[in-house]
Amino acid sequence: MENKKRIMSGMRPTGKLHLGHYFGVLKNWVDLQEKYESYFFIADWHALTTKYNQTDDLKENVKNVLLDWLASGINPDKSTVYLQSFVPETAMLHIYLSMITPQNWVERDPTLKDLAKIMKDKQENMSNLSYGLFGYPVLMTADILTFNTHFVPVGIDQVAHVELSRDIARRFNNIYKADYFIEPQPLLTKIPLMKGLDGNKMGKSFNNDIKISDSEEITEKKIKTGITDRNRIRKDDKGNPENCEVIFEYWKIFGSEDDINEVCQGCKNATMGCAECKKRLAQKVNEVLRPIREKRSQFENNDKLIKEIIYDGSAKARIKAKEVLDGAIDVIKMYK
Ligand code: TRP
Repeated sequence: MENKKRIMSGMRPTGKLHLGHYFGVLKNWVDLQEKYESYFFIADWHALTTKYNQTDDLKENVKNVLLDWLASGINPDKSTVYLQSFVPETAMLHIYLSMITPQNWVERDPTLKDLAKIMKDKQENMSNLSYGLFGYPVLMTADILTFNTHFVPVGIDQVAHVELSRDIARRFNNIYKADYFIEPQPLLTKIPLMKGLDGNKMGKSFNNDIKISDSEEITEKKIKTGITDRNRIRKDDKGNPENCEVIFEYWKIFGSEDDINEVCQGCKNATMGCAECKKRLAQKVNEVLRPIREKRSQFENNDKLIKEIIYDGSAKARIKAKEVLDGAIDVIKMYK
């Protein structure tokens, strides 16, 4: 049946992805691709909004993001997986949308406000906030409207952007008196934030992450640094899993009910030390990640296949993108 609703979402090519991405985003996409006509893209133009002068790793980052997606189960036969800069229709749509978007709508965007503040705090020259960065929410709207998308699976931090996309879609429809663009809705998932090994949010820049692509040895080494119950200093101190900041949280994600009961008892009765508990956890984590990592390594050394996936996916994306763009151009009444 070709009556599926459409979803689209994307990620900036920041490099190798971590377990926060896997549990927070990718697992969800993998489920959604069964139910929706799905478009997933690597947002390389978006990367340029802030890193326009740091492009040395860009190609490698695109590749790594795709590898992690494929390893996690994003299936190019089910979803359309593409690279933003390979779909110029989005840029064209962006031009039209930029004409109708009031400047103060963009300025209101909370993420942009935060970003501007961070840059200011870092004493970075404000001229580093480029025109493209200010236009970021409009570009994101263009991404979404490129496929006349019904739903956008995103985290809570992106909801304001999707709201703006709705506003812009509605404004377009009002101005050109056509019921053309669907007002896209965010598709929120209730997935708790994955903590990093130090107890803060998992993030590459915090150096507290476990990568999908880490080796088993590195994974074990990293898990050894994980925060436990800070009051349990010696092995024969009785611990409290409820106060175990990170390691027990990971057990809840990776362990079976029996595993969890066992480490709980071991901790409370001081029959299992934190070192032993972490060692076991590392085994568990590696066990869960093994098939994903194996899949990744199958693609890793096949540049030709990776290229093919990106080219084919982008060509496929362009078919729908062109249809939507052509329709918009008609609605605007451009010369043709
Ligand atoms: N802004 C998103 C992020 O930083 C990435 C993104 C760009 C996106 N365009 C999108 C996500 C369109 C969903 C839909 O994570």
